[in-house]
Amino acid sequence: MRRKLAAGNWKMNGTGDTLAELTALLKAQPDPACDVLICPPATLLNRAANAVRGSYLKIGAQDCHAAASGAHTGDISAEMLVESGASHVILGHSERRTDHGEADAQVRAKAEAAIKAGLTPIVCVGETLAQREAGQTLDVIAKQHAGSLPDSATCIVAYEPVWAIGTGKVATLDQIGEVHAHMRRLLADRYGDAGNAIPLLYGGSVKASNAAEIFGVPEVDGALVGGASLKAEDFAPIISALDRT
Ligand code: PGA
Repeated sequence: MRRKLAAGNWKMNGTGDTLAELTALLKAQPDPACDVLICPPATLLNRAANAVRGSYLKIGAQDCHAAASGAHTGDISAEMLVESGASHVILGHSERRTDHGEADAQVRAKAEAAIKAGLTPIVCVGETLAQREAGQTLDVIAKQHAGSLPDSATCIVAYEPVWAIGTGKVATLDQIGEVHAHMRRLLADRYGDAGNAIPLLYGGSVKASNAAEIFGVPEVDGALVGGASLKAEDFAPIISALDRT
Protein backbone atom coordinates (compact mmCIF):
# COMPACT_ATOMS: atom_id res chain seq x y z
CA MET A 1 0.00 0.00 0.00
CA ARG A 2 1.40 3.41 -0.96
CA ARG A 3 1.03 6.18 1.60
CA LYS A 4 -0.85 9.21 0.38
CA LEU A 5 0.82 12.60 0.68
CA ALA A 6 -0.33 16.20 0.56
CA ALA A 7 2.82 18.33 0.25
CA GLY A 8 2.81 22.12 0.44
CA ASN A 9 5.53 23.89 -1.54
CA TRP A 10 5.77 27.45 -0.24
CA LYS A 11 8.46 28.44 -2.76
CA MET A 12 9.91 31.86 -1.82
CA ASN A 13 6.81 32.84 0.14
CA GLY A 14 5.70 32.94 3.74
CA THR A 15 6.94 34.37 7.01
CA GLY A 16 7.23 33.18 10.57
CA ASP A 17 3.70 34.46 11.11
CA THR A 18 2.37 32.49 8.14
CA LEU A 19 4.00 29.40 9.60
CA ALA A 20 2.66 29.91 13.12
CA GLU A 21 -0.86 30.44 11.84
CA LEU A 22 -0.87 27.50 9.42
CA THR A 23 0.65 24.98 11.81
CA ALA A 24 -1.65 25.98 14.67
CA LEU A 25 -4.75 25.60 12.51
CA LEU A 26 -3.64 22.32 10.90
CA LYS A 27 -2.65 20.83 14.26
CA ALA A 28 -6.17 21.58 15.52
CA GLN A 29 -7.62 19.32 12.76
CA PRO A 30 -8.16 15.61 13.48
CA ASP A 31 -5.07 13.59 12.44
CA PRO A 32 -5.51 12.47 8.82
CA ALA A 33 -4.54 9.00 7.62
CA CYS A 34 -2.46 10.57 4.83
CA ASP A 35 0.93 12.23 5.29
CA VAL A 36 1.05 16.02 5.28
CA LEU A 37 4.23 17.89 4.50
CA ILE A 38 5.03 21.59 4.68
CA CYS A 39 8.03 22.81 2.67
CA PRO A 40 8.77 26.39 3.74
CA PRO A 41 11.81 28.45 2.72
CA ALA A 42 15.06 27.16 4.27
CA THR A 43 15.17 30.02 6.77
CA LEU A 44 11.99 28.68 8.40
CA LEU A 45 12.82 24.97 8.43
CA ASN A 46 14.04 24.77 11.99
CA ARG A 47 11.20 26.88 13.31
CA ALA A 48 8.75 24.74 11.33
CA ALA A 49 10.22 21.52 12.73
CA ASN A 50 9.79 22.83 16.27
CA ALA A 51 6.23 23.98 15.53
CA VAL A 52 5.08 20.55 14.29
CA ARG A 53 6.94 18.36 16.81
CA GLY A 54 4.61 15.68 18.20
CA SER A 55 1.96 16.26 15.51
CA TYR A 56 1.14 14.49 12.25
CA LEU A 57 2.79 17.25 10.20
CA LYS A 58 6.19 16.76 8.58
CA ILE A 59 8.67 19.28 7.23
CA GLY A 60 10.43 19.31 3.88
CA ALA A 61 12.94 21.51 2.09
CA GLN A 62 12.82 22.82 -1.48
CA ASP A 63 16.34 21.99 -2.69
CA CYS A 64 19.70 20.68 -1.54
CA HIS A 65 23.27 20.55 -2.82
CA ALA A 66 24.67 17.25 -4.06
CA ALA A 67 27.77 17.54 -1.84
CA ALA A 68 27.78 16.96 1.91
CA SER A 69 29.85 20.09 2.61
CA GLY A 70 32.37 22.35 0.93
CA ALA A 71 32.96 25.65 -0.82
CA HIS A 72 29.46 26.26 -2.19
CA THR A 73 28.43 29.70 -1.06
CA GLY A 74 24.70 30.02 -0.51
CA ASP A 75 23.97 26.31 -0.84
CA ILE A 76 22.65 23.89 1.77
CA SER A 77 23.50 20.19 2.03
CA ALA A 78 21.08 17.36 2.65
CA GLU A 79 22.78 16.69 6.00
CA MET A 80 22.11 20.28 7.02
CA LEU A 81 18.45 19.90 6.10
CA VAL A 82 18.22 16.80 8.27
CA GLU A 83 19.80 18.71 11.13
CA SER A 84 17.21 21.46 10.76
CA GLY A 85 14.38 18.93 11.06
CA ALA A 86 13.42 18.12 7.46
CA SER A 87 12.36 14.60 6.46
CA HIS A 88 11.81 15.30 2.74
CA VAL A 89 13.26 17.52 0.04
CA ILE A 90 11.70 18.68 -3.24
CA LEU A 91 14.22 18.30 -6.09
CA GLY A 92 14.23 19.26 -9.75
CA HIS A 93 11.19 21.55 -9.50
CA SER A 94 10.65 23.20 -12.88
CA GLU A 95 11.40 26.59 -11.33
CA ARG A 96 14.85 25.33 -10.33
CA ARG A 97 15.36 23.66 -13.69
CA THR A 98 14.49 26.99 -15.38
CA ASP A 99 15.86 29.60 -12.94
CA HIS A 100 19.04 27.71 -12.03
CA GLY A 101 19.59 25.62 -15.15
CA GLU A 102 19.37 22.34 -13.24
CA ALA A 103 19.73 19.40 -15.59
CA ASP A 104 18.58 15.83 -15.00
CA ALA A 105 22.04 14.61 -13.95
CA GLN A 106 22.30 17.29 -11.28
CA VAL A 107 18.82 16.49 -9.96
CA ARG A 108 19.79 12.84 -9.78
CA ALA A 109 23.00 13.64 -7.88
CA LYS A 110 20.97 15.69 -5.40
CA ALA A 111 18.47 12.84 -5.01
CA GLU A 112 21.30 10.40 -4.25
CA ALA A 113 22.73 12.84 -1.69
CA ALA A 114 19.31 13.28 -0.09
CA ILE A 115 18.79 9.54 0.29
CA LYS A 116 22.29 9.10 1.71
CA ALA A 117 21.49 11.75 4.33
CA GLY A 118 18.20 10.04 5.24
CA LEU A 119 15.81 12.37 3.42
CA THR A 120 13.05 11.28 1.07
CA PRO A 121 13.45 13.14 -2.22
CA ILE A 122 10.36 14.34 -4.10
CA VAL A 123 11.64 14.49 -7.67
CA CYS A 124 9.63 16.70 -10.02
CA VAL A 125 9.10 16.06 -13.70
CA GLY A 126 6.85 17.73 -16.25
CA GLU A 127 6.58 18.99 -19.79
CA THR A 128 6.37 22.56 -21.05
CA LEU A 129 3.41 23.75 -23.10
CA ALA A 130 5.51 23.68 -26.28
CA GLN A 131 6.52 20.07 -25.59
CA ARG A 132 2.89 19.07 -24.96
CA GLU A 133 1.72 20.77 -28.12
CA ALA A 134 4.46 19.01 -30.08
CA GLY A 135 3.20 15.64 -28.79
CA GLN A 136 6.39 15.03 -26.79
CA THR A 137 4.92 14.75 -23.28
CA LEU A 138 5.45 11.03 -22.68
CA ASP A 139 8.96 11.11 -24.14
CA VAL A 140 9.92 14.10 -22.00
CA ILE A 141 8.62 12.37 -18.88
CA ALA A 142 10.51 9.17 -19.74
CA LYS A 143 13.74 11.10 -20.30
CA GLN A 144 13.36 12.99 -17.02
CA HIS A 145 12.66 9.74 -15.17
CA ALA A 146 15.70 8.04 -16.67
CA GLY A 147 17.95 11.01 -15.93
CA SER A 148 16.68 12.46 -12.65
CA LEU A 149 15.65 9.54 -10.48
CA PRO A 150 18.04 7.94 -7.98
CA ASP A 151 19.21 4.33 -8.09
CA SER A 152 17.11 3.39 -5.11
CA ALA A 153 13.31 3.44 -5.14
CA THR A 154 13.11 5.29 -1.82
CA CYS A 155 11.74 8.40 -3.48
CA ILE A 156 8.51 10.13 -4.45
CA VAL A 157 7.83 11.45 -7.96
CA ALA A 158 5.71 14.53 -8.69
CA TYR A 159 4.22 15.14 -12.12
CA GLU A 160 3.97 18.89 -12.59
CA PRO A 161 3.14 20.07 -16.10
CA VAL A 162 5.07 23.35 -16.32
CA TRP A 163 2.13 25.12 -17.97
CA ALA A 164 -0.15 24.25 -15.04
CA ILE A 165 2.10 25.63 -12.27
CA GLY A 166 0.82 28.83 -10.73
CA THR A 167 -1.30 29.53 -13.79
CA GLY A 168 -4.71 28.37 -12.61
CA LYS A 169 -4.67 25.97 -15.60
CA VAL A 170 -5.08 22.41 -14.37
CA ALA A 171 -4.29 19.42 -16.54
CA THR A 172 -7.44 17.51 -17.48
CA LEU A 173 -8.14 14.30 -15.61
CA ASP A 174 -7.37 12.38 -18.81
CA GLN A 175 -4.02 14.11 -19.20
CA ILE A 176 -3.12 13.42 -15.55
CA GLY A 177 -4.28 9.80 -15.85
CA GLU A 178 -2.27 9.22 -19.04
CA VAL A 179 0.98 10.57 -17.58
CA HIS A 180 0.58 8.87 -14.20
CA ALA A 181 -0.08 5.48 -15.86
CA HIS A 182 3.03 6.08 -18.00
CA MET A 183 5.11 6.96 -14.92
CA ARG A 184 3.93 3.84 -13.10
CA ARG A 185 5.05 1.70 -16.05
CA LEU A 186 8.42 3.48 -16.18
CA LEU A 187 8.95 2.91 -12.45
CA ALA A 188 7.97 -0.78 -12.67
CA ASP A 189 10.37 -1.26 -15.60
CA ARG A 190 13.21 0.38 -13.73
CA TYR A 191 12.71 -0.77 -10.14
CA GLY A 192 10.52 -3.87 -10.47
CA ASP A 193 8.17 -4.42 -7.51
CA ALA A 194 9.78 -1.55 -5.60
CA GLY A 195 8.59 0.79 -8.36
CA ASN A 196 5.00 0.02 -7.41
CA ALA A 197 5.65 1.36 -3.92
CA ILE A 198 6.75 4.82 -5.13
CA PRO A 199 4.04 7.42 -4.44
CA LEU A 200 3.14 9.62 -7.43
CA LEU A 201 1.95 13.17 -6.80
CA TYR A 202 0.23 15.55 -9.19
CA GLY A 203 1.08 19.27 -8.97
CA GLY A 204 -0.13 22.32 -10.82
CA SER A 205 -2.91 24.61 -9.62
CA VAL A 206 -4.36 22.06 -7.18
CA LYS A 207 -6.97 23.70 -4.96
CA ALA A 208 -9.88 22.79 -2.73
CA SER A 209 -12.35 22.87 -5.64
CA ASN A 210 -10.46 20.42 -7.88
CA ALA A 211 -8.56 18.23 -5.39
CA ALA A 212 -11.16 15.48 -4.95
CA GLU A 213 -11.51 14.78 -8.68
CA ILE A 214 -7.73 14.78 -9.18
CA PHE A 215 -7.29 12.34 -6.26
CA GLY A 216 -9.85 10.08 -7.95
CA VAL A 217 -7.52 9.55 -10.94
CA PRO A 218 -5.79 6.12 -10.84
CA GLU A 219 -2.10 6.26 -9.78
CA VAL A 220 -2.48 9.69 -8.17
CA ASP A 221 -1.30 9.24 -4.58
CA GLY A 222 -1.44 12.88 -3.54
CA ALA A 223 -0.49 16.39 -4.54
CA LEU A 224 2.32 18.90 -4.54
CA VAL A 225 0.50 22.13 -3.80
CA GLY A 226 1.98 25.60 -4.28
CA GLY A 227 -0.22 28.65 -3.83
CA ALA A 228 -2.97 26.82 -1.97
CA SER A 229 -0.62 25.51 0.73
CA LEU A 230 0.09 28.83 2.43
CA LYS A 231 -3.21 29.20 4.25
CA ALA A 232 -4.98 26.56 6.33
CA GLU A 233 -8.36 27.54 4.84
CA ASP A 234 -7.03 26.53 1.40
CA PHE A 235 -4.77 23.60 2.38
CA ALA A 236 -7.00 21.86 4.97
CA PRO A 237 -9.78 21.02 2.45
CA ILE A 238 -7.16 19.52 0.10
CA ILE A 239 -5.85 17.33 2.94
CA SER A 240 -9.41 16.27 3.78
CA ALA A 241 -10.13 15.44 0.13
CA LEU A 242 -7.01 13.22 0.04
CA ASP A 243 -7.97 11.62 3.33
CA ARG A 244 -11.38 10.69 1.92
CA THR A 245 -9.91 9.13 -1.23
P1 PGA B 1 0.81 25.76 -7.77
O1 PGA B 1 2.32 25.25 -7.67
O2 PGA B 1 -0.04 24.85 -6.92
O3 PGA B 1 0.84 27.17 -7.23
O4 PGA B 1 0.42 25.70 -9.20
C1 PGA B 1 2.63 23.89 -7.63
C2 PGA B 1 4.12 23.68 -7.55
O5 PGA B 1 4.86 24.40 -8.23
O6 PGA B 1 4.61 22.78 -6.82
